[in-house]
This record gives sequence, structure tokens and C-alpha cells, in this order.
Amino acid sequence: MAKPRNAVSNLKEYIPGKNPEKAKVIKLASNENPLGPSPKALLAIKKELKKISVYPDQNSLLLSRQLSKKFNVSEKNLVIGNGSDEVLQLIAAAYLSSGDEVLISRNTFSTYEFVTRLFDGNPVFVDLKNNTYDLPGFASKSTDKTKIIFLCNPNSPTGTSFTAAELDSFMANIPDNYIVVIDEAYAEYVESEDYPDSLKYVRQGKNVIVLRTFSKLYGLAGLRCGYGIAKEEIIKYLKMVKLPFGVNRLAVAAASAALDDKAFVKKSLKTNKDGKKYLYSQLSPIKTEANFICLDIKKSADEVFLRLMAEGVIIRPLTSFGIPNAIRVTIGTMEQNKKFVAALKKVL
Ligand SMILES: Cc1ncc(COP(=O)(O)O)c(C=O)c1O
Repeated sequence: MAKPRNAVSNLKEYIPGKNPEKAKVIKLASNENPLGPSPKALLAIKKELKKISVYPDQNSLLLSRQLSKKFNVSEKNLVIGNGSDEVLQLIAAAYLSSGDEVLISRNTFSTYEFVTRLFDGNPVFVDLKNNTYDLPGFASKSTDKTKIIFLCNPNSPTGTSFTAAELDSFMANIPDNYIVVIDEAYAEYVESEDYPDSLKYVRQGKNVIVLRTFSKLYGLAGLRCGYGIAKEEIIKYLKMVKLPFGVNRLAVAAASAALDDKAFVKKSLKTNKDGKKYLYSQLSPIKTEANFICLDIKKSADEVFLRLMAEGVIIRPLTSFGIPNAIRVTIGTMEQNKKFVAALKKVL
């Protein structure tokens, strides 16, 4: 039998949110946009379809240009990936050597641990404090073997965020040779006024990589498109380990159109805000800055997941995130939110 690399034999499989098998079942498990895709993206895909016999642009040039304007950075500060997941993998592929330590929070997005182990890094875990990233806790676990620090802001699955002041004091004490990854997959939903401007560190020339995605607010999870913003030297290395023609034409065309779909973005944000208000009025979740809530249900999340599914609602039990008595639920349309709350009250 052919034996894979040790790192591969020891990997844990990613457990995704379950997809519904029946039309009537609603999925609130993966923080997708409940309104569907941006209508402008759909039109752009139709137009682009005729071109799919031709390879896409290697660097997704048009989208990079658009993002560079939006964020006031150079195109050389951007890498576009098959979802921000791919950018996470590029970071580990470019920077990790066997035995390097990688600081990762407990109860967070599992891909940080996955890419670390895949490239022979050693994950070093830091507990959450009050359901929030404990930045001083990260600083206290760093050693001369630390190579990468993964921060998720807002955090999935708790929905909490750390503040600009907290990040400032953390960055002031971080050695210059660490790579700090700030995953902002849910940044567009944040309402808190003290959310950090993390691009500030990129502009200062620090080793910071900011990640964003088109999978959430822009409604394009199924197409796979995300991006990283960092200083030129870092982006150069990320592109070196990237397969050619990585991001497909349809994804790039859709992302580019969605970015300009102001009406859809506005409607999506309002849906989220209204849904959040309703869910707060009915339940007592952790206060969220994202498009999902995290709820301590004080009993087995796996059981509640099955019972909710029988009621036609798929949520995410947080067992695989290390919180077996809690669930994460995407904020849906008002109709979906009401259906979820009624089902949960029945089940509990
Ligand atoms: C915190 C976080 N980062 C990254 C991702 C991956 O997003 P993408 O679809 O861009 O790969 C997700 C997806 O759920 C996420 O929750």
C-alpha cells in the first residue's frame, strides 16, 4: 500500500454544514447569504459563459484592479483565491517549515489547524476569554519557534470581535518576523465602532495578511472566490505557491459584478440587521458582529441538530468546534428566522 506523508495520515476531515436534501428544509448552517446570489453577479455569469473555452487571467486582473481601488492599495498587494480557504493554504505552503509553531485559538475556524498540520507545522492553542479572542493570551504563548498567528475577526463560531485598541497593543508587542493573518470573512457585517482597520498594518509594511471573501455578504459561496491583502513581498510568495489559472472565469466575473451591486449589499445588510434584532428579542445568544448567532443550549448540540432537522431546519452543532453544548445559526430571512425560533422552542 502507498503510504501518504505523516502529516496527511494525521489530518482530521473538515465537517461542513449539511446541505438540505428536501426543498422545504432551510439551511442556516454555513453562513451563506439567505437572499441568494447578487443579481448583478448572475447577469455577469451569463455574459461570461461564452468565454469559458479560454483560460482565465492568471491574476484575476480586473477583480484585483477593482479591489485595489476599493481598499486603496496596489494590485501588487492582492492575491485572489478559490475562496479565502485557498489563501489560507497558500500562506501555510509559502511560510511553514516542519516544526514551526502556529498560534491558533480554540473554538475557531478549523481550516487554520488543517493547513498548519498539512504543512507540518505545530499548532499551539490559545483559549478564548469571554467567548472572544484573547490577544494577550496569544502574545504569552509566542516563542522563537512561532511563525504564523491566525486571528479570526469576527470569530466564527462565537461572532465576537476584538477591538482596534486591543489589536494595536498586540501588534506593538509582536516580533517583526511573525506572519499575522487576520481573517475578516464576516467584516462587512460588523456594527461595532471600534472594529480594527487592519489594512493599516499592511500599509505600515508589517507582516500582516488580511483575508476577505465573496462567500458571505456577496452570496457567492458556491463559486469559491476570496482574497488576501498584504505587502508586495508576501503576495509575491503566495503567488509562487499557487497553481496557475487558479480562480475560474465565472467566479471572477461574478465577484467583480457583486462588488458593485450596492442595492444587493444594502438589502443583505438590512436583512441581517433586522434578523439579528428579532433573534435577540426571542433568544439570548452571544452578541454577534457577524451574520450568525452562537447559542448555548445547555444540552447536546448533536441531538438538538437532529431534532431541528426533523423540523426542517439545518443548523451547525458546535461539537467539531469544541463546544458540544452550543449551536451556530445563520441569520436568515425573517421567515426563516421565525421558522427556526419556533422549531428551537419546540425542540428545547
Ligand atoms: C472565518 C472564516 N474564514 C474563512 C472561511 C472560508 O471562506 P471561503 O468560502 O472564502 O473559502 C469561512 C467560511 O465559512 C469562515 O467562516
